[in-house]
Amino acid sequence: MKIAGRTFVVSGGASGLGQACVEEICRNGGNAAVFDLNEEKGAAVIAKLPSGAGKFFVCDVVETDSIAAAVKQTMEWVQETGKPLGGVIPAAGVGNPTTILDRNGDAFSMDTFDFVVNINLRGTIDLVRQCLVHLAKTEPVGADQERGVVIMVASVAAFDGQKGQISYAASKGAVASMTLPMTRDLARYGIRCVTIAPGIFESGMTAVMPEKLFKGLAAVMEFPRRAGQPQEFAQLVRQVIENGMLNGTVIRLDGGLRMPSKI
Ligand SMILES: NC(=O)c1ccc[n+]([C@@H]2O[C@H](COP(=O)([O-])OP(=O)(O)OC[C@H]3O[C@@H](n4cnc5c(N)ncnc54)[C@H](O)[C@@H]3O)[C@@H](O)[C@H]2O)c1
Repeated sequence: MKIAGRTFVVSGGASGLGQACVEEICRNGGNAAVFDLNEEKGAAVIAKLPSGAGKFFVCDVVETDSIAAAVKQTMEWVQETGKPLGGVIPAAGVGNPTTILDRNGDAFSMDTFDFVVNINLRGTIDLVRQCLVHLAKTEPVGADQERGVVIMVASVAAFDGQKGQISYAASKGAVASMTLPMTRDLARYGIRCVTIAPGIFESGMTAVMPEKLFKGLAAVMEFPRRAGQPQEFAQLVRQVIENGMLNGTVIRLDGGLRMPSKI
């Protein structure tokens, strides 16, 4: 699938990994619909893009109606620009680490669990399903008669979740597990599905991590021993969009990191 001439929906596009995807898509001739809660950051991201290449839509991915409104406005924009939908990248996410039992033996509240799972898992699938309805109606292109691609964002915590990451690992493990059945569901429509599981990347999420943990994770990477740059994540997203053979898989992008029990 060529990026140029198509529109991609990116949730969490106002910061970090999502923002880098937005920039990469627009640099390569595509349009990006930026879905995010943060209007201020969203506006700042759009201002830096080539004129007309990006548009911000306020969206809370835990609210079905909020997604519906943003998708509707995106489709109106698509009508105006004539750049059909080419894919969706649900990159909105939160960490919120909490151990299941605290030092006093009290269990975490279900609100903690629901908060993370609602954004990372429910927010992912709700956005994807609402975009797919439109993606499936686009004109198939190229020799493969492709319609587009879903690129979900898991985490290495899907496989090696650390202390305090039960909710996060549950949400990301589920995203990883949805990849193959989604690929199978969508094959008849010429839509591919790939999930990327990043290790540790510089972003808004990791900027608020304790420095000891952030540096500690970088230090246990094999090579290179540093946090990834959002641009390196976006580079893989570009390859996933462009390479028609990438489908039905979860790709770790982690410099060989296998997260230890604790840092
Ligand atoms: N940075 C890393 O090291 C890393 C590693 C593994 C996975 N990830 C995943 O990558 C994705 C992007 O995270 P990031 O690191 O760029 O973080 P980030 O905090 O920089 O960006 C996340 C964005 O999501 C938005 N968001 C949060 N809740 C939302 C909601 N309910 N509705 C709409 N938007 C919402 C935020 O406003 C923010 O702009 C997340 O799913 C995260 O779990 C990040």
